[in-house]
Amino acid sequence: MTVSRKTTACAFYLFFGYAMIGMMLTARPLSAQTVSGADVYQQRCAQCHENAAANRAPSRDTLQRMTVSRILRTLDFGLMMGVAYPLRREEREAVANYLGTKGSEPGPPASAYCSAGRHPLSGEAAGNWNGWSPLPANTRFQPSGGITRAQIPRLKLKWAYGFAGDVTAFAAPTVLDGTIFVGSAGGVVQALEAKTGCLHWTFQANGPVRSAIVAVANGSDYSLLFGDQIGWFYSLEAKTGRLIWKKRVDEHEGTRLTGSPAVYEGVVFIGAASWEETRSIEPHYSCCTFRGSVTALRVADGSPVWKTYTINPPKKRDVNKAGAQQWGPSGAPVWSAPTLDPKRGAIYVTTGDNYSSPATATSDAVMALDIATGKIQWFEQTTPNDAYTSACRNHGPNCPEEDGPDYDFGSSALLLPLPGGKDILVAGQKSGVVYGLDPDQKGKILWQTRVGQGGKNGGVQWGMASDGQAVFAAASDLVGVLNSGGAVGGAKFDPAKGGGLTALRPADGGKIWFAAPPPCDPPRPGCSPAQSQAVTAIPGVVFSGSVDGHLRAFAAEDGKVLWDVDTAKSYSTVNAVEAKGGSLDGAGPVVASGMLFVNSGYPRNGGMPGNVLLAFAPEE
Ligand code: HEC
Repeated sequence: MTVSRKTTACAFYLFFGYAMIGMMLTARPLSAQTVSGADVYQQRCAQCHENAAANRAPSRDTLQRMTVSRILRTLDFGLMMGVAYPLRREEREAVANYLGTKGSEPGPPASAYCSAGRHPLSGEAAGNWNGWSPLPANTRFQPSGGITRAQIPRLKLKWAYGFAGDVTAFAAPTVLDGTIFVGSAGGVVQALEAKTGCLHWTFQANGPVRSAIVAVANGSDYSLLFGDQIGWFYSLEAKTGRLIWKKRVDEHEGTRLTGSPAVYEGVVFIGAASWEETRSIEPHYSCCTFRGSVTALRVADGSPVWKTYTINPPKKRDVNKAGAQQWGPSGAPVWSAPTLDPKRGAIYVTTGDNYSSPATATSDAVMALDIATGKIQWFEQTTPNDAYTSACRNHGPNCPEEDGPDYDFGSSALLLPLPGGKDILVAGQKSGVVYGLDPDQKGKILWQTRVGQGGKNGGVQWGMASDGQAVFAAASDLVGVLNSGGAVGGAKFDPAKGGGLTALRPADGGKIWFAAPPPCDPPRPGCSPAQSQAVTAIPGVVFSGSVDGHLRAFAAEDGKVLWDVDTAKSYSTVNAVEAKGGSLDGAGPVVASGMLFVNSGYPRNGGMPGNVLLAFAPEE
């Protein structure tokens, strides 16, 4: 495909640069062919871990008693993820293998498993939540989850499940016939009984799994489809957790699958994003070559149907100040779940920023693809000239001349019917603006409404919801002070700035109400009123989680708080793992099987770490 219009666009997800990253910028790059774990250790780890007492870091000796997989997990989504941002996959694996022991970690205790005779998919089929949204238009509206508005004030914790060894709990649960399928930062996918949290089976993926799992009927079973954070895509048997097939979705080393897949008539659609935006902190990284894409595979065997890139292939550009070859264009990743529109034969995706110059016309855009062929039908860019990498935080050599503003779309477009028979696409951006677009006029912008200030961690981050009457848009607008600590999470945020939930009319974007968030009480490290988490709706009620750790239920008609629970505390868990909650961010709560499920713990942007899945039900 060719993308011709010129101009630009943007990047995502950045964080508070850790002071320690600065210390490492002098390291030379290691070539992919000759990665030696000992070299990576010397260049990237030794300055802290060889001088353990001075740095509060475990000594090399201690690291050598950990398993390879635990060390990898620490680099991927644990305490060392800030240190590891510039490290390529081969470097992570090399240093983990150099340091760690070969053995496997102890699995869950026998007591965590369901008793004999209790099987997956044997509960009621009513009130399922399959994939990113129970209805296909990505509205995150659950019409029949088995919890009524009258029961909301009586929601109480039923059980908690801990993710062993993790400091992040960010995965989107899928609930099917009384069984929860949920990934984790450690890459373990688990099937749990919804009522009790007992474990049916686990599956170890290659990388962290945060995308929602989509279940597709397959004879007397279901196939479970999902991607991981290092670019692998899987199909599992729902009853057993056995692998049916797995595939790399894109050849690029930095590929990262964050958005949930969508399925239509035997084909699964997968958006791809990447780690290049953070890899570029390293001045010698040859920035950047990743291209956002949507890949269509046959559900049956993973064979290819089509693949469409959001931008043209990168060409050689100048050499940066550190002497590294630059490439462009790059970026325009797809962070979120595609939205299906069978009526128009289309699927819609939203894109993030470019990573390098030249900026393109398809970054920070809403894009329609032909569902059968992948051909781009139209695209509408909302922020031109947005090229950005994490290097821009310190004006590093890999910051492109556009230097942001880093206004990715991180969330899916919602497709909503309007009175009178027309449909509208509603998309929320990190800029803080929500757009109404006409799917029958090549995405023409019909209205735009500001719901937040916007920023690198601003505006609409992971998702809005709609009950058809209103669109519920939560704003992040996280305001932080640079994180000076060595460990992940616990950044200093402004305890009174950020957040807010706005209800908009789908037809014209007019504001129906705004609910201002309370400040952090008490102010503490990692706490912010930012509402980054994806929003969820049921009839009469909207749920929005906050970086302050609270999950709140709001009345759909006026935004009054109906229920408020603080998840940032310690839990005793059904699987006997020590667990605590933290910031709510990423995937939102899920209402199904008469219960509400939410993951708590998200230190990636400096929030409070946590490793727990919580299940609430109305007290009788
Ligand atoms: C800037 C200093 C610094 C650098 C560089 C650094 N570490 Fe660490 N590391 C720490 C500190 C401090 C801790 C303890 C954090 C805590 O417990 O809060 C730690 C903890 C760890 C742990 C234990 C995590 C756990 O879950 O208990 C592992 C494993 C680890 N580091 C591996 C590495 C590897 C591998 C590298 C190099 C790629 C590296 N570190 C580079 C400072 C550093």
